[in-house]
Amino acid sequence: MGLQQAYEQLGEEAVRSHEAALVTRLLAERDGVLALGGGSFASPGVRAAAKEQGWVALYLRLQPSEAAARLATDPVARPGCDGPNATLALLSRRFAARDEIYATADVVVDCDGLSPVQVVDRVAAAFGAEPAPHPIAWLEGGPSALADMMREVVPSGRLLVVADRKLQGAVEATVSELAARGRVARVVWVEGGEAAKTVSALSGIWTEAFAGPLDRGDTVVTVGGGVVSDLGGFAAATLMRGLPVVHVATTLMGMVDAALGGKTGVDLPAGKNLVGAFHMPSAVIQWGASLATLPDRDFASGLAEVVKCALLSGERALAQLEADAPALCEREAAAVGRAVALATQTKMALVARDPQERGDRALLNLGHTIGHALEAVTGYERYLHGEAVAIGLVAALRFGSALGETEPGLAARVAALLTRLGLPTELPDLPPEIWREALSRDKKRTDDAVRFVLCRRAGQCALKIVELDRVDAWIRRSLSGSMDDV
Ligand SMILES: NC(=O)c1ccc[n+]([C@@H]2O[C@H](COP(=O)([O-])OP(=O)(O)OC[C@H]3O[C@@H](n4cnc5c(N)ncnc54)[C@H](O)[C@@H]3O)[C@@H](O)[C@H]2O)c1
Ligand SMILES: [Zn+2]
Repeated sequence: MGLQQAYEQLGEEAVRSHEAALVTRLLAERDGVLALGGGSFASPGVRAAAKEQGWVALYLRLQPSEAAARLATDPVARPGCDGPNATLALLSRRFAARDEIYATADVVVDCDGLSPVQVVDRVAAAFGAEPAPHPIAWLEGGPSALADMMREVVPSGRLLVVADRKLQGAVEATVSELAARGRVARVVWVEGGEAAKTVSALSGIWTEAFAGPLDRGDTVVTVGGGVVSDLGGFAAATLMRGLPVVHVATTLMGMVDAALGGKTGVDLPAGKNLVGAFHMPSAVIQWGASLATLPDRDFASGLAEVVKCALLSGERALAQLEADAPALCEREAAAVGRAVALATQTKMALVARDPQERGDRALLNLGHTIGHALEAVTGYERYLHGEAVAIGLVAALRFGSALGETEPGLAARVAALLTRLGLPTELPDLPPEIWREALSRDKKRTDDAVRFVLCRRAGQCALKIVELDRVDAWIRRSLSGSMDDV
């Protein structure tokens, strides 16, 4: 039964009392965020239950005139809202009756004139959270929805779109939609895949950028995976000494990691990501609909970073991810949504605390010391980044166990999860002498030691300086099958 129907058949009082009973039950049984519509909070029973169960009440206050204007474009039928005058009259009556009671909430945020992103920033500030380094939006729709969102996040100027050629159809459709909205967008095509993250691809973007009009009021928009956001982000950081950039992430790796937090760069023959810049995007759009064409191997690669984030976050996140593993393999929307949310929250909390990686942000390198070395010794060809991270995570946990730092069983548990998600977990059989050199090239190295992220248990990870010799010796031992000593 719809709301309108319920009001007509049962009457407002009966609907309200059902609602109050349901909300009171949810307040007792659930935690998280409970969004109360209508007049729920006006019920003394609901307010008392909320207080008793330790909930924090947040009042998002909107003046009746703005609420009425927003409802004017809302297709949902609402009781008592037939036409603008009736709507405004109803909202004004409700506001007069409820504002004083709602204002007893623990936190009150006035939302008039604010975009959703600004409201979130105010709420976060009210709860004492660090301001988000940049807004992030999940987008379900296709090119037309993307064009609408672009108009919102980049209100003026031309767009220089750096896009993965594999997304040509979707990108061209978006450019047409933008043109229909009066926005000029020029596309520079690049290739995806690690082999394309080169200085020559970067210089190609520079050249094409100046083949047409470009000025400081313009914005670079990347559309693609991590390779394209790293490349296009670095181009944006350097074009005219820095243009704003928006990343539209189209791979899971891009959505959960690469597009977030402002690290950009290219690879050199001497190593991965050796040249780059911190350049915070002005927004990140996680383009959910584009995942439909992403190959399974690339999807699984992104999941490796989600497992890493679960380890950084804690037992609850890890257990949820284990429970979600079968649904993730089927790419069920709810499970994918939870995985993206977990990784986004974990990464952004660390980036907000430490944008330039002077401390805690480096925890995101869990699994990457050995992961990056593995990519290097296999010439960036054998493994996708996430696959190398999966092997690196298990190696870091086993190494931690050998040092007596990691709780017993965690490495095996995480290896089992990664295997279920379709990821490799074992170091390949390569000549042992090649590792030392690759490990010593890591940017996180200091003299003869490497900065290693060790994980005691889920949610308890810490940076530790470990002598290169010890890591190298452990790798040699583990490759030869004896893994007990370090
Ligand atoms: N800057 C950071 O903080 C950060 C973090 C993590 C990873 N990275 C980098 O990200 C890169 C890996 O990212 P990635 O896995 O997204 O790589 P990628 O950009 O190469 O994309 C993977 C593959 O998917 C294709 N593709 C992209 N979107 C698609 C779609 N919607 N449908 C079909 N195919 C699509 C690409 O052409 C490519 O072949 C690495 O270079 C890694 O170093 C950077
Ligand atoms: Zn990574």
